[in-house]
Amino acid sequence: MGSDAHRAAAPPEGAALGGAHESEPQVSFRHVGKQFRPRFGRSVTALEDISFDVRRGEIFGIIGRSGAGKSTLIRLVNGLEKPTTGQVMVDGVDVGSQGNAGLTALRRRVGMVFQGFNLLASRTVEDNVALPLRLTGTGLAEARRRACEVLDLVGLADKARAYPARLSGGQKQRTGIARALVQQPDLLLSDEATSALDPETTAGILALLRDINRTLGLTILLITHEMDVIRRVAGRVAVLEGGRIVEIGHAWQVFAAPRHAATRAMLAPVHGAPGGLTGIEAGHTLFAITQSGDDPPLDLTALAAPLGQGGRLLGNFAGEQAGRNATHLLLSAATDDVAACLSRLRAVAPTAEVLPYAG
Ligand SMILES: Nc1ncnc2c1ncn2[C@@H]1O[C@H](COP(=O)(O)OP(=O)(O)OP(=O)(O)O)[C@@H](O)[C@H]1O
Ligand SMILES: [Mg+2]
Repeated sequence: MGSDAHRAAAPPEGAALGGAHESEPQVSFRHVGKQFRPRFGRSVTALEDISFDVRRGEIFGIIGRSGAGKSTLIRLVNGLEKPTTGQVMVDGVDVGSQGNAGLTALRRRVGMVFQGFNLLASRTVEDNVALPLRLTGTGLAEARRRACEVLDLVGLADKARAYPARLSGGQKQRTGIARALVQQPDLLLSDEATSALDPETTAGILALLRDINRTLGLTILLITHEMDVIRRVAGRVAVLEGGRIVEIGHAWQVFAAPRHAATRAMLAPVHGAPGGLTGIEAGHTLFAITQSGDDPPLDLTALAAPLGQGGRLLGNFAGEQAGRNATHLLLSAATDDVAACLSRLRAVAPTAEVLPYAG
């Protein structure tokens, strides 16, 4: 760490960066549709009526099966694709209506990390990272100095003079991340950045992304088909299926109580590991209680009475609440009067809420 050129600490939630208005979401999809019309063959609807916001400073995950439209969605954010209908706004700027100058300015603020690393074999790690600066006219010495700063940030300071061929997959990806950070973006797009890596290396890259998110206050839009990746880092998540958003919410909620068949299908491989709920009884209502670090400890035995007979403690999930670590306790009850049950629970645990769940 130790890059004074970067913001030193995560800004408070909702704080303005890059001169943007405080309450504005960083990325806003408004009824976005995308059709590909090849010269031969049938046109493909890759995205249909997508509307959601990515808030400043959050790690937002997008998951979906192959062909669901994830890469298309992320490519709209830095203008590599234009929407057929609707708008994609970044910091209040309509990406689709930007000309070349506007796109160049936008891409300076939006870093992107790919699965394939895209490193130049003939250049050192340092010069690969310095490349975006060189391309926009920064002098060699200054570009290298800033490259070394971000290499330090990603834990690769000692590889600055190495060539990509001498790096492991994880080191190549760290180089890719450093290159995406060298222009000090406000927003980082990551498309399957860990899918070529083994589980241990993946864990290291995810920890790095989380670290960058916290220390630089960087918003991250993370795309993957691996639920497990999202589960470990994302605060909120959207599930894409056939070009539509079929589910959106807090990652822990989507994991605990997936509502759509597509989500459950993707969850299947990680079910059984802590994280997925199984065996919710038909007709039961799900409740969640959120505890953050400073809350007084909950008396679990006091939860039994409000839940009534047949009430169960289903498990707990690590998550985030307003940027801080939190635990979400999941309970179920066989009750006809959900409102009464909720108010009894709230008397014991004020954060209790009903979770929507399509059993
Ligand atoms: N340039 C293109 N021309 C025509 N069709 C395209 C083009 N790019 C994407 N598509 C189609 O749009 C749909 C969504 O593709 P996209 O690459 O966004 O999916 P994805 O969710 O990223 O999949 P994966 O997990 O395999 O990377 C697919 O049906 C794909 O074939
Ligand atoms: Mg893709």
